[in-house]
Amino acid sequence: MKPIQVGLLGIGTVGSGTFAVLQRNQQEIARRAGRGIEIAMVADLDVERARAIVGEQIQVVNDARAVIANPDIDVVVELIGGYGIAKALVLEAIAAGKHVVTANKALLAVHGTEIFQAAHDKGVVVAFEAAVAGGIPIIKALREGLSANQIQWVAGIINGTTNFILSEMRDKGLDFDVVLKEAQRLGYAEADPTFDIEGVDAAHKATILSAMAFGIPVQFDKAYVEGITQLAAADIKYAEQLGYRIKLLGITKRTDKGVELRVHPSLIPAKRLIANVEGAMNAVLVQGDAVGATLYYGKGAGSEPTASAVIADLVDIVRLIDADPAHRVPPLAFQSHTLAAAAGALP
Ligand code: HSE
Repeated sequence: MKPIQVGLLGIGTVGSGTFAVLQRNQQEIARRAGRGIEIAMVADLDVERARAIVGEQIQVVNDARAVIANPDIDVVVELIGGYGIAKALVLEAIAAGKHVVTANKALLAVHGTEIFQAAHDKGVVVAFEAAVAGGIPIIKALREGLSANQIQWVAGIINGTTNFILSEMRDKGLDFDVVLKEAQRLGYAEADPTFDIEGVDAAHKATILSAMAFGIPVQFDKAYVEGITQLAAADIKYAEQLGYRIKLLGITKRTDKGVELRVHPSLIPAKRLIANVEGAMNAVLVQGDAVGATLYYGKGAGSEPTASAVIADLVDIVRLIDADPAHRVPPLAFQSHTLAAAAGALP
């Protein structure tokens, strides 16, 4: 069977990782998906740099709309980020009947309802495993592995940059600014790092987790958001002396009054597993009524860890496209789930 044809919008940190992993693990991925997955076209403003990454065999353009307009492209992977042009392109890709994979948590947290509605209406999938906690398959866990449970709460370290900063400040006594620069150099930080340090990025991800866990619409504007900029080295030191670690947590919780959604620095007893998540690593704790507590740990940022999630979504989409229509159960049931809630079933 002909390989699935993928168009990449943006080939920065995650895009180049996606290209590298697809090349390196080509056979393994094709075996799991049932057929090959090929990047057929790449759009990036820096055509020369993009060509240096993907070589001469793959068409490189500087106009993302040329990818969307290409009838041979089955899936568009949006790795541009942000709310601006990315939103227009995702909606245009959906309108053109393309399935979409995105790592864009900001876009989904703010405009997810509109985007999922458009995808639902068009009968295509918007997949977003890479949007939350990088390489950790937390979306899949909530959607599939824990589907028997009433989720009670989710709490996680879901921003690698701030966890890296807090770890390095504590362990090496380094200054905030020095560590932030290092996080940027390592490709962890957002293009606008205030999103990391002010807790906005974690809140975007917590918003998505909240929608997944509780079947509610994405509602970033309801989140309480506090980052780590008000923390001093002394806070970290005193917490340590009292037997605690400070972690920036994203928390969403079912309560009698509705769903809580918040991001803020939290004191965690040092002996807890999650208190020992260091560097840019992420960890997400999920409490379900049947399963109890489960913990997911892994790299939450960076090129290939995030690419791992992008490609997992591509594999899911290939399986969905190739499934017998009579027995096709969309594995990416986020749309209908949240839309039902939007229609009045808020917990
Ligand atoms: N800036 C993000 C982080 C990247 O530090 O976690 C991954 O979403």
